[in-house]
Amino acid sequence: MIDVVAGSDIREASGDVAVAPVFQDMVWGPGATDLVEVMGDWVESYLRDQDFNGKVGQIAILPGGDALPYGRVMFVGIGKEIDAEGLRRVSGIAGTTTTKFDQVVTTLHQIGIDDAAELVTVGFLLGQYRFNKYQSEADLVKTSRLVLAGWNGEVGSVAAGQAIASSVYLARDLVNEPAVAKPPVVLAEKAEEIARSHGLTIQVYDECEIEAEGFGGLKGVSLGADNPPRMVVLRYEPDGATRKVAFVGKGIVFDSGGLSIKPASGMENMKTDMSGAAAVFGALQAVAKLGLSVNVIGVTPLTENMSGGSAVRPGDVLRARNGKTMEVLNTDAEGRLVLADGLSLAAEEDPDLIIDVATLTGAAVVALGPKIAGLFTADDDVSDTVLAAAGRAGEQIWRLPLESGYRQFIDSDVADLRNASTERYGGAITAALFLSEFVGDRPWAHLDIAGPARANKAEHYLAKGGTGFAVRTLIEIARAYSS
Ligand code: BES
Ligand code: ZN
Ligand code: ZN
Repeated sequence: MIDVVAGSDIREASGDVAVAPVFQDMVWGPGATDLVEVMGDWVESYLRDQDFNGKVGQIAILPGGDALPYGRVMFVGIGKEIDAEGLRRVSGIAGTTTTKFDQVVTTLHQIGIDDAAELVTVGFLLGQYRFNKYQSEADLVKTSRLVLAGWNGEVGSVAAGQAIASSVYLARDLVNEPAVAKPPVVLAEKAEEIARSHGLTIQVYDECEIEAEGFGGLKGVSLGADNPPRMVVLRYEPDGATRKVAFVGKGIVFDSGGLSIKPASGMENMKTDMSGAAAVFGALQAVAKLGLSVNVIGVTPLTENMSGGSAVRPGDVLRARNGKTMEVLNTDAEGRLVLADGLSLAAEEDPDLIIDVATLTGAAVVALGPKIAGLFTADDDVSDTVLAAAGRAGEQIWRLPLESGYRQFIDSDVADLRNASTERYGGAITAALFLSEFVGDRPWAHLDIAGPARANKAEHYLAKGGTGFAVRTLIEIARAYSS
């Protein structure tokens, strides 16, 4: 990942491109005034000719000229006024359009909002993210340095921004990786590497231990796959921390649907069905890098959902870690089966808060579309905490009802629960109700990220593909619980 450093004033710094903000109707933002003063009056009319007037997200790239120490000058429109997420987004646009330049210098952090340096760092770095390891003629990111011109260390922490961005990179890389390259064993090794390099403790349950420890949901879902499952538990336990939060992530490395097989169209996107687990890995890495004062435990049940000769069948009954039995009606509703074990395990730790993150239902995408995650919790305080954290993180989350009147739709004739609702509609709610059976009386919230875990097209700081959604919200939740 590229370096982000403080530099001298925009007039004295030097680099391959200078990036400065312009408010709507061509009101020069910080740094732009200085650049235009040196460049000359032609700039304004030139920009107007290019239909640039400072509307949010507009960009214009001009030659720097002899008088400036930059080969290029890039103006970014930031609209009439800008908030924290707006700054992240325009910084993302700056990042995504400057990957060809080695040294990028900016004044975006001088915009006059709290934590601007962190926001610019996160947005810029995320905007530069590319997943191109399998492309022989990839457009490589050439940027080695982002210089925050005239930054005196007073408008937020670049180091925090880098920690957050690198954790989102980690999650995106794991999500974008083809399923063939990330069987549960490989993801568990990756978690071991994260643990080693960040001082986390880790426990990995292999297939025998999964069976012996009563993780019957995970075991059941794994039956149709040749790749063995793993249950990974990461722990961040700094000295002096008093509170404990547990993050649980759905880790289906590929969801074929199992015997209730999915249609061929779009099945390739089901390599992203481990986005919840990836978010938990990213969050655990970040809380360690940030050195937060809170105990964080990450639980990720990892398996593939396949339809091999030993696959779990409709009608089969599985017993979860907490003893509850689950009738499998649809093998494609596998996420709740593995999360049953993950949540049970998390609840045994008596945390102050449990958050699970899962690409759980198509119904959540129907309800909220591709950009917004669904939040389910019975606890208004937990809801406030999660929504506030998501707001600070710039991730869109909307609360949906955990309607107890729908609980009857997951009553089974033969077991404690059925994994698919008897009702056609409300599938995100019945899935959440199912999960609620495994958290005991612990404060808990469920995030259904089936929509926002993946972007269908590039936009501001998002590249097409895995987004790393929820990493930043989980970090903000941990920050809120940090003493
Ligand atoms: N992984 C899917 C949910 C999903 C759908 C994620 C679209 C991302 C995009 C999940 O395992 C699934 O297949 N759920 C079923 C449940 C149903 C069979 C009760 C669904 O939502 O259709
Ligand atoms: Zn499924
Ligand atoms: Zn799934």
